[in-house]
Amino acid sequence: MPAPAIQSPPARELVARFGSPLYVYDAGQVRAAYRAFAGAFPYAPLDLHYAIVCNKNRYLVAALAAEGAGIHANTPGDAFAALEAGVPADRIVYSGTNLSADDFAFLLPRGIAMNLDSLDQLRDLGGRAPVGLRLLIDEPEAANRIGVTQAELPEALALATITRLHMYAGTNTLSPARFLACLDRLIAASDLLPDLEAIDLGGGFGVPYREGLPPLDLAALGHEVAERMEALSARRGRRIGLVVEPGRTLVAQAGTLYMTVVSVKERGGRRFVGVDSTVGNIVVPSVYHPYHRIEALEPRGGALDVPTDICGNTTHSRDFLGRDLRLPALQPGDLLAMHDVGAYGYAMSSHFLNRPRPAEVVLDGGNAILTTRREGFADLLSTWEAP
Ligand SMILES: Cc1ncc(COP(=O)(O)O)c(C=O)c1O
Repeated sequence: MPAPAIQSPPARELVARFGSPLYVYDAGQVRAAYRAFAGAFPYAPLDLHYAIVCNKNRYLVAALAAEGAGIHANTPGDAFAALEAGVPADRIVYSGTNLSADDFAFLLPRGIAMNLDSLDQLRDLGGRAPVGLRLLIDEPEAANRIGVTQAELPEALALATITRLHMYAGTNTLSPARFLACLDRLIAASDLLPDLEAIDLGGGFGVPYREGLPPLDLAALGHEVAERMEALSARRGRRIGLVVEPGRTLVAQAGTLYMTVVSVKERGGRRFVGVDSTVGNIVVPSVYHPYHRIEALEPRGGALDVPTDICGNTTHSRDFLGRDLRLPALQPGDLLAMHDVGAYGYAMSSHFLNRPRPAEVVLDGGNAILTTRREGFADLLSTWEAP
């Protein structure tokens, strides 16, 4: 089911207070998603690490940490954001690729657990810590660049004490079968690891952005995963931990981007609705996600049968926030909501097109908290050196 529009306080009030365009997240919805996710995996020990790459909003990170989540970091910057948000280093798991000497120098002294993905990187680590290994979960011929192959495992074992095996099924995966096929390979490979402590199922749990798309059946997936983990633990004669790194699935549906209609043109049987936001503010749908629901928040009547494009406030030829939609009559000043933008929304926004980024507000317990200030022009040039 698509997430309901955020009702309280009303969008109009939030935009009056914090400006437009505006990212708004519902903290209660994030906590509920976390609890539902944790409840779907009936296995212990279970350790969930929120993948901060998809949204590093400090308030949401702290809320998830308070629920018991650790953090999954993709980059030292991810880990830095987690530490700054108050997450202890021993609650961070780092699954990276192509780490430089500086990256190791940042992560290792802090005691951040790592999953590495090549023999070269194990050599770079040089036995300084026990480590997790990212396994290629597709056939070696597949164009998948992440991980070591099964054939490389013996050499990997000679280079490091490997305590964890890690996989990543691919982002926005809606098929339980894909996760289970990867997990089966991971578990089979884990038989070679004498020091195995945990299996890391990674992230990638998908979200149904389109109306009518069936959601990933997490309960069924969690049950199957737990069964396999029980069998593995029984074979090993000790409990093997299960680590999971959900990102998108915890926050996507809790986020909405409010924007304001600036101008409306109708010609050639099409409607072009111009708004005060841009694909620089949210790198969708032209670049990353194929589709986001867009809704008129104060509709005057039903949807018109006129193909409608939602156009960003730049002349970049791909600056469309939605295409071929059916929306009600619209006029300047009307509010639109783009739904399900809590993951890879603000996180992928940029200074491309030189529109400053929107503010972020979190709704929690009836309060609206400004968590990220709106940028101004000076932010666009903040890295310029003095002439
Ligand atoms: C290793 C790893 N784990 C977890 C995630 C989070 O992915 P998602 O937001 O699709 O769950 C990512 C995303 O890049 C990742 O690379």
